[in-house]
Amino acid sequence: MLEALGSLVAALWTTLRPGTVLLGAFVFLLFADFLKRQHPKNYPPGPLRLPFIGNVFHLDLGKGIFVPQQVVKKYGNIIRLDFGVIHSIVITGLPYIKEALVGQEQNFVNRPMIAIQKRIFNNKGLIRSNGQVWKEQRRFTLTTLRNFGLGRKSLEERIQEEVTYLIQAIGEENGQPFDPHFIINNAVSNIICSITFGERFDYQDDQFQELLKLLDEILCIQASVCCQLYNAFPRIMNFLPGSHHDLFRKWEKLKRFVANVIENHRKDWNPAEARDFIDAYLQEIEKHKDNATSSFDDENLICSTLDLFLAGTETTSTTLRWGLLFMALNPEIQEKVQAEIDSMLGQSQQPNSAIPDAMAYTNAVIHKVLRMKNIIPMNVPREVALDTTLAGYHMPKSTMVLTNLTALHRDPAEWATSDTFNPEHFLENGQFKKREFFLPFSIGKRVCLGKQLARTGLTTRS
Ligand code: HEM
Ligand SMILES: *[C@@H]1O[C@H](CO)[C@@H](O)[C@H](O)[C@H]1NC(C)=O
Ligand SMILES: *[C@@H]1O[C@H](CO)[C@@H](O)[C@H](O)[C@H]1NC(C)=O
Repeated sequence: MLEALGSLVAALWTTLRPGTVLLGAFVFLLFADFLKRQHPKNYPPGPLRLPFIGNVFHLDLGKGIFVPQQVVKKYGNIIRLDFGVIHSIVITGLPYIKEALVGQEQNFVNRPMIAIQKRIFNNKGLIRSNGQVWKEQRRFTLTTLRNFGLGRKSLEERIQEEVTYLIQAIGEENGQPFDPHFIINNAVSNIICSITFGERFDYQDDQFQELLKLLDEILCIQASVCCQLYNAFPRIMNFLPGSHHDLFRKWEKLKRFVANVIENHRKDWNPAEARDFIDAYLQEIEKHKDNATSSFDDENLICSTLDLFLAGTETTSTTLRWGLLFMALNPEIQEKVQAEIDSMLGQSQQPNSAIPDAMAYTNAVIHKVLRMKNIIPMNVPREVALDTTLAGYHMPKSTMVLTNLTALHRDPAEWATSDTFNPEHFLENGQFKKREFFLPFSIGKRVCLGKQLARTGLTTRS
């Protein structure tokens, strides 16, 4: 509704006098807003909204959505929040989250079309696609990552190789204090480079640094006021200057980077052996080249590749950095972890994914970091695929769905001493113990695709 209005107002603007237009537009917008705000019967309750902007004041820029505890208490486990043209529902509590993401997974499996992402990705790739495209891209990526007979190196070997370089880089600091941010970022991104591009980069490599800088800048700009406003009012913001235009340019640059790598792969491509994700994907394109409805094409290859970077780098490296900080702040826990590692591996042996089963304490500590610092606090948004009912409330098709994972991880009824770093939560008689209220990777059909990979990277399994 507002999108159409944006262009209407712009068209009128040129022919009418500003005063008349302003008054007319204002009355019209109020009326449109009134219509828009008529939610269907049985729609979930929620806090006060303002005309036009709805609950935009609940957006805590850079941090996501902020809804005070009292609000959740007052309106219950399922509340509505409106942001401009976006209608969303926030679900709190394990039974409801499970009911939505697992019990009714078909109805909640989609991602919403958020304006910025629609413009940049056109809903291709892994993270934002829906329907047949998503099914095909996800299935292909999972099997390719899992089988990982890619080239001559297994996934585990690629991670171990990178760890060697990471340790070397840390060693070069000669025991002096240093900021581990970039070294860890480099190492984690390099694992994704190795998987997708078939090669790791030297940490000083110009091309590599350019890639990382772009990814980093994009994450920053995406949280800016202009970008949030673009999502809420795409048509209007399209005409206005702001950082969102910068974001579009940077994405184009990133896409060209990947397109370039793909072109180079094509030049020395050997259909008989896939060296990496891109090679495997080129085989898939070849296999489906006579099928016009297949989603295996260059656009989806570029988007899926970037999605692996986007979803895999910042998440894993931020978690690792929190882990380091917790270790520094809790020397007695650090000592126990070190003792366990020393007894299992000694000083020289590389960890591998089979070992964590035996390293209960270390595993518990890693889970603890993931619990305390779940870096995707409200999960990645989903969308209601068709009209449905949840906990007695009506959920119309296309409503955006957020699930509060932080609330699970911080629930004082579930976690004694929920705000302190206490790995005992994941231990029972010295054995590792799984916890139900632990969902940093979410659940259901759309659960984090890197869950297995990320866990190998953080050397944990459960
Ligand atoms: C500590 C590390 C990580 C955390 C906490 C994390 C968490 C998440 C969460 C919460 C989701 C949303 C799931 C949902 O909608 O239900 C997700 C999706 C995803 N993650 Fe991760 N992730 C991590 C690492 C990784 C890594 C290393 C990769 C790369 C292989 C990855 C790839 C993806 C992809 C491709 C999706 C989209 C899946 C889809 O839409 O079908 N993640 N992740
Ligand atoms: C073409 O692709 C679609 C979608 O992937 C698939 O359902 C269909 O079976 C394919 N047709 C052929 C002839 O392979
Ligand atoms: C999610 O849960 C946390 C912890 O209980 C709370 O502080 C936060 O306000 C909640 N966010 C939303 C949007 O409900």
